[in-house]
Amino acid sequence: MNLSSIPGQHEYGGKPFPLVINAPECSLSEGCEWARGVAGELSKAAFEHGAVLVRGLPLAKPEDFDAAVGAFNFANFSYVDSLSNAYRINYTQRVFSANEAPSDITIFLHHELAQTPVYPSKLFFFCQTAADEGGATPICRSDVLWKRLYEQRPDFAEACQARGLKYSNVMPAEADESSGMGRSWQSTFSVDNREAAEARLAKLSYSWEWHPNGDLRATTPVLPAVRDLGDGRASFFNQLIAAFNGWKDTRNDPARAIMFGDGTLLNPADVGVASAIADEITFDIPWQAGDLALVDNYVAMHGRRAFKGTRRVLASLVADN
Ligand code: FE2
Repeated sequence: MNLSSIPGQHEYGGKPFPLVINAPECSLSEGCEWARGVAGELSKAAFEHGAVLVRGLPLAKPEDFDAAVGAFNFANFSYVDSLSNAYRINYTQRVFSANEAPSDITIFLHHELAQTPVYPSKLFFFCQTAADEGGATPICRSDVLWKRLYEQRPDFAEACQARGLKYSNVMPAEADESSGMGRSWQSTFSVDNREAAEARLAKLSYSWEWHPNGDLRATTPVLPAVRDLGDGRASFFNQLIAAFNGWKDTRNDPARAIMFGDGTLLNPADVGVASAIADEITFDIPWQAGDLALVDNYVAMHGRRAFKGTRRVLASLVADN
């Protein structure tokens, strides 16, 4: 593979973050053939480095991105089946808009769907159109964050590990495109009435509460805050930074969005330390049209910077095989 570099690239334990690769000059079908051949190697690199950025593939449309992702032969993780709270538009079975939230909204660092019991193992991003200004996708090595957090706030780190975390959010009865978490409860749970929603919630071990206006507050069971990566590393695999800083809209108060598994509240100063470490080790992917990124969801977090102009960054999620 043809390794490349990018200004400001990070490095952890001798591994560049992200790993940057130049694709060979080729047609779309040759590019897919190339992807098929390197899929195993790129998947391993994404796990070791956290993320891989591939430049130079001739990808222009959502269908091209779908074809490239399909060539990797990973199992698809569909938005329809996911419990994501983001409102999105599906372009193909595999491809959807990364988030329809307005351009001035910052999406904080998170592991995709770590606030639910079902999450993808990897994510692809594709830049169809880069924003005029801003719009980078920040990425952050969560294993590096965990190590530093443990050193700086051992009590907090141990509490996260021992008690786990619970998340609570209010879903609207109608999709709310003005919010980063505006997916309706009907769409989230793939149901069209309250009884069916309650059956799904009970099966997932959630607790819930209906609001008089038809909104639904759903609270997750206790979920782990830390993930053993199986190779001596562990990652801060949770939604703490995004939930505490960003789960804010007309229905939601971030102070109630996340708590320890035993129901006790988090200390904002501890969360502040975790957020500050994450900021220090964040790299912003400076999108160019045609870029393809593969992020290991267990190793690296991602978010979205605010932007000006038209930005089209599409996503595709991959399940564990
Ligand atoms: Fe995301």
